[in-house]
Amino acid sequence: MAGGHNSRFNVCNSNMKYNCATQPPNIDNPTYLDAYRRSIETPEDFWGEVGQSLDWYKTWEKVLDNSMEPFTKWYVGGYLNACYNTIDRHILNGKGDKVALIHDSPLTNTIRHVTYNELYETTSRLAGGLRQLGVEKGDRVIIYMPLIPEAVMAVLATARLGGIHSVVFGGFAASELCTRIEHAKPKVVIAATCGVEPNKVVKYLDMLHSAIAMSTWKPVCRVIFERNNVLSVSLDCKKDVSWNTVLQLGSLAERCECVPVEANDPLYILYTSGTTDKPKGVQRPIGGHLAVLSYSMKMIYGITSNDVWWTASDLGWVVGLSYICYAPLLIGATSVMYEGKPDRTPDPGQYFRIIDQHKVSAAFSVPTAFRVIRRVDPEVKYGKKYCLDSLRTIFIAGEQCDIETKNWIERTFKVPALNNWWQTETGSAITASCVGFGHSMYPPKYTTGLPFMGYQIEVFNQDGMQTESAELGRIVIKLPLPPGNMSTLYKNDELFKQIYFQKFPGYYDTMDAGYKDQNGYVYIVARDDDVINVAGHRIATSSLEDAVLRHHDIADAAVFGVPEPTKGQVPLCLFVVKEGTKKEATKISSEIIKIIRDVIGPIASFRLAAKVEGLPRTRSGKTMRKAMADFAKNEEVTLPATIEDPTVFSDIRRALQELGYAMTAPNPILAE
Ligand code: COA
Ligand code: AMP
Repeated sequence: MAGGHNSRFNVCNSNMKYNCATQPPNIDNPTYLDAYRRSIETPEDFWGEVGQSLDWYKTWEKVLDNSMEPFTKWYVGGYLNACYNTIDRHILNGKGDKVALIHDSPLTNTIRHVTYNELYETTSRLAGGLRQLGVEKGDRVIIYMPLIPEAVMAVLATARLGGIHSVVFGGFAASELCTRIEHAKPKVVIAATCGVEPNKVVKYLDMLHSAIAMSTWKPVCRVIFERNNVLSVSLDCKKDVSWNTVLQLGSLAERCECVPVEANDPLYILYTSGTTDKPKGVQRPIGGHLAVLSYSMKMIYGITSNDVWWTASDLGWVVGLSYICYAPLLIGATSVMYEGKPDRTPDPGQYFRIIDQHKVSAAFSVPTAFRVIRRVDPEVKYGKKYCLDSLRTIFIAGEQCDIETKNWIERTFKVPALNNWWQTETGSAITASCVGFGHSMYPPKYTTGLPFMGYQIEVFNQDGMQTESAELGRIVIKLPLPPGNMSTLYKNDELFKQIYFQKFPGYYDTMDAGYKDQNGYVYIVARDDDVINVAGHRIATSSLEDAVLRHHDIADAAVFGVPEPTKGQVPLCLFVVKEGTKKEATKISSEIIKIIRDVIGPIASFRLAAKVEGLPRTRSGKTMRKAMADFAKNEEVTLPATIEDPTVFSDIRRALQELGYAMTAPNPILAE
């Protein structure tokens, strides 16, 4: 049993600090076990060694300062620069001609290779130009761009100046962009005129203009990269400065040197969905993050500077920011940026083509991407003609991976498909099958792997007791969290403490449900809060409900996730209309679908909505989203005795069945 009998504590006593020793994994791998033990027992020595892979202007005075837990600091007093470590040092080491980025864009029919020299040239000129526009150390810069090399340049130019970047994913609508602008208060926004999707050109510039019009915060300047090969637009000369003008400003100025930044200063803010209505801007400390990313490339992914590495994600998601931009460039490898879809651009053979054409050593993506290929081309007719000899491994993360998909990936690509468990908050994998540590390439079927260095993982049940091995519960991580984890929520230390550390004192609450087996392998089953995972996009049901409630005919609404074969989960909304509403329910449904697209964005994949007579609530007013979600999945549901009106479920059954769910759901049982 993990933790032994001494480890049973009750969370009701919130003053108590848990102090049970987490058992190390019980597997036969001395190299991993030795490193893991050192990372926990002598963290200063262990992480001190890891930090040496980076170039520092000034070495740290102290590896770990945990005196203000949970505001843990690593590499305290050390000064470095993220742009220097990802670009300049490779050039100084004679690697300038090496390809840093391969931009492969079937959507614009282009393939572009960017060397480290070229990356240096444009990034430092851009940084010089941004400095002329007033960007200084600590200033925020929002980046709203498609997956093009200029987005990486914008990220690294900001980092060069010691600025704090915040990338906003292009699939978010103007009002989501506005919320982030208001919260981050950027001095400059860097955007592209447009993005390209298979069925449309996404006009980022228009969305940026509406977001800024709505926002109470007005950035000093907007820098616009014009994608004239896709869409020709005239810039608003009063408000927009073109990318090329900023580069010219940079060329005229003095050489733009990198600004040394303290290891615990923020590198970036990445906004993520959560159950609170306040913006959750995960703030990432520079030193620990870069140290762990660089170390993870070798130890988790088995990648060296000679490899071509491909992360199929976007810089607006943590996986993309960490593993398209920072990690591969830190180690001087080549990173592929794919501006396309698994299918439709133009066919489902693209993942295979990219591996073959660019000689990719390892690829990293979400299970949904592979489910898409499998659904449209199960016999791999399009992929067959490509040679996959360069490929050693596929890594998957971001959402549940069903076993059929995992098996299909392994059969089709003929390499192991290794799962990692991640959160925006952690910045890199919490658990993984680590190639560099010689972990089994065929671990137990459903696992997301073993704890990575510094992560002491425990599983607590509803009463806050440590569970038996293989028993499902809430996954928590003993403090201190290893380097690279968020340092706080931007401008909200209180919310940071409250949502992550209050419930289980001495632990970080992951809000994921899962279990550990007797060997220490970790299994993630679902989110344990009101967050759903749609094609690897993390979406809070509360933000969708807020948007639905903007409809003037709607009195009440509940949104929850239902299974969908390709995207894993999609949101479904049941709504109650106001008394006297004459409008047809189907009309209201299509109007709220449009509202969600306009307010949140198309990535919510919101298409399922139906009217009901009432929603199930407890007497304390809590909407029973989980009961409805389980009912939709045809699972047995036990309703608490505190439910206000259990009869609402008969109408909910009708509504769900019209949408294709709850077809065989047993009647809910009322608890005694
Ligand atoms: N800019 C604008 N719109 C975008 C967009 C972008 N960058 N990316 C997606 N969209 C739009 C799509 O066009 C689509 O719009 P539609 O409803 O009008 O057709 C909608 O958002 C839904 O997109 P999505 O759910 O992403 O489906 P998809 O078929 O476009 O892509 C995947 C499928 C698997 C490629 C995509 O979901 C994906 O990359 N997911 C991984 C996310 C990730 O990396 N997460 C990191 C885990 S931490
Ligand atoms: P995000 O912060 O957007 O990366 O989403 C993090 C959430 O995605 C986690 O809390 C999990 O619920 C889910 N997640 C990430 N990786 C995995 C995985 N390998 N298996 C299952 N769920 C995952």
